[in-house]
Amino acid sequence: MSDGPSLIRDLEALEQEALEATADATDPDDLEAVRIRFLGRKDGRISGVLRGLGGLDHTERPAVGAAANRVKGVVSAALDARAASLAAESGPDSALDLSLPGRRAWAGGKHPITLVLDEIWEVFRSMGFTRARGPEAETEWYNFEALNTPLDHPAADEQDTLYLEDSVLLRSHTSPVQIRTLQNHAPPVRILAPGWVYRRDTYDATHTPAFMQVEGLVVDEGVDFVDFKATLAEFARRFWGPGTRIRLRPSFFPFTEPSAEVDVKRVITLPDGSTRETDWLEIMGAGMVDPAVLDAAGVDSERYTGFAFGMGPARIAMLKYGVTDLRTFFENDMRFLAQFAPGGEA
Ligand code: DAH
Repeated sequence: MSDGPSLIRDLEALEQEALEATADATDPDDLEAVRIRFLGRKDGRISGVLRGLGGLDHTERPAVGAAANRVKGVVSAALDARAASLAAESGPDSALDLSLPGRRAWAGGKHPITLVLDEIWEVFRSMGFTRARGPEAETEWYNFEALNTPLDHPAADEQDTLYLEDSVLLRSHTSPVQIRTLQNHAPPVRILAPGWVYRRDTYDATHTPAFMQVEGLVVDEGVDFVDFKATLAEFARRFWGPGTRIRLRPSFFPFTEPSAEVDVKRVITLPDGSTRETDWLEIMGAGMVDPAVLDAAGVDSERYTGFAFGMGPARIAMLKYGVTDLRTFFENDMRFLAQFAPGGEA
């Protein structure tokens, strides 16, 4: 027959045992078995002590009951804490499903205009051109006068050009790079100069106040109109494919004489495999360098001749990708831009 003090000692021993078993449990199933072994309502060892209260002298019951409840509380709290720490340790592991396909790292991609610029550059590089660049803040002299454009010419009007201060402006085209290049490099010169240009234009489907241009310039002894046309025709074939034709339409630019607008007619393959020629599409302005431009840059115009051209890669990207609104290039909608990225999705 047990008495109160010996039951309390038993409870304390059980408490110790239960806490050790709890600490030793290494997974939730283990832990649940410990809970049942000590606290289970039917066969739990601590619960069993409580059930034995009835056989005690009533003066001893309160002390044993209180001890049993304290031990139950302590063991129960230890079991809960251990359950939480096991869940925290095993949480991520048990959520790891090795059969799931991996999440692809998003690599990003080049902007469509950059892609077109790269392709243009690649074609001219293969024809022996090198890169040139010039400042975006230019003087009136480089932007206009040296390019045979008097300041009272409509292009020099403040309506069209963004002036920074007296006679300093944001270049309205990349043509001033022609002058800067010729001032620093004696012919032969064969350069491609991509860069930003600025105009006081309203932002709409075909205009942006800041846009890219690519300038080309070839100056050497004996450069003639045949070199000019053959170079541009070769560019068009390498860029758009072998069947591409070009057409020169007479035009006017102050810095070239004669001047031309260059159109291309491409061959496209239809889904059924047949081919068709496109309409003529304008891709650039060009011409033979005006001797006055060579003179302004300090190049002997009796000895040297050349040709130049300027194109807008955004316009070429629109033609190439069938984009009808220029603004889509600048609004950074990932659903649009991601179509040009290697992975192809945002
Ligand atoms: N600078 C001209 C423009 O912005 C484009 C251009 C036309 C450049 C003829 C040239 C050229 O080099 O020869 O509209």
